Amino acid sequence: MSSFANQVAFITGAGSGIGRATALAFSKAGATVVVAEINESTGRETVELITQQGGNAVFILCNVVDPEQIKKAIYQTVHSFGRLDIGINNAGIGGKFGKLLDQTEQDFNQIMAINVGGVFYGMQAQIRQMLTQKSNPTGGKIVNVSSIAGVRGMPMGAPYSASKHAVIGLTKTAALEYVKHHIRINAVCPVYTHSPMVDELINTAPGMEERMRRMVPMGRFGEPEEIAQTILWLCSDENAFVTGQALQIDGGLTAG
Ligand SMILES: NC(=O)c1ccc[n+]([C@@H]2O[C@H](COP(=O)([O-])OP(=O)(O)OC[C@H]3O[C@@H](n4cnc5c(N)ncnc54)[C@H](O)[C@@H]3O)[C@@H](O)[C@H]2O)c1
Repeated sequence: MSSFANQVAFITGAGSGIGRATALAFSKAGATVVVAEINESTGRETVELITQQGGNAVFILCNVVDPEQIKKAIYQTVHSFGRLDIGINNAGIGGKFGKLLDQTEQDFNQIMAINVGGVFYGMQAQIRQMLTQKSNPTGGKIVNVSSIAGVRGMPMGAPYSASKHAVIGLTKTAALEYVKHHIRINAVCPVYTHSPMVDELINTAPGMEERMRRMVPMGRFGEPEEIAQTILWLCSDENAFVTGQALQIDGGLTAG
């Protein structure tokens, strides 16, 4: 496994699901972890879990829709730990399950503000800081969490699918703009993965879980730890030639 010793990883939405698994995995690999979360109790729980496994982490209350809060969180990170090596823009919501005509302006705006705004403002603050770290030998690494709904349509989830397509556009563009500055920027696109978000979807209709499972050639959901390991791999120095990619983690779904 790669070592992230002496590196500082800033992870949004790290109080639950994929974000928490990623925070724990980075800590196990030696990184100092900043848990940036809107939910104070789950965010602090993640810090506690990291501390119990012997790692170093802090919680920062942060709503990713607000650029000032993200800027302040990055400032606090650097004030505490002196640098920022890794930015994981993971915070997101699933939004309302319903056809296009059942989605309101408010549904659309909310999902775009969190899922797209959070990645946009997150990358702005992270890249601004990384550009000041000229002595950084390995450069900066950013991973944005998109979805398989970012590369395919998702019936009953048009705003979600649009937001996750936008995350890939932001990722590829920023990767090209900052490649010369040694900042690598990639996205991951998971299929259904065990988390509170997917539990909500399962509960929308009887038999939903089985239907979702059948869509995946491997016949199962992903585990948050599996997504976390791919994120770590994308950030590792062994992977130094990969940037601007949207990597599908989908049990074979998009192979067909
Ligand atoms: N679980 C899946 O099947 C799946 C599949 C593909 C992509 N994703 C994406 O993975 C990411 C993580 O999802 P998850 O499944 O772990 O869900 P989750 O609901 O378990 O975790 C999301 C976290 O983001 C936090 N959050 C929400 N809004 C926020 C805000 N405005 N500011 C800061 N934090 C905020 C929540 O409090 C929560 O801790 C999301 O972007 C999601 O769209 C999930």
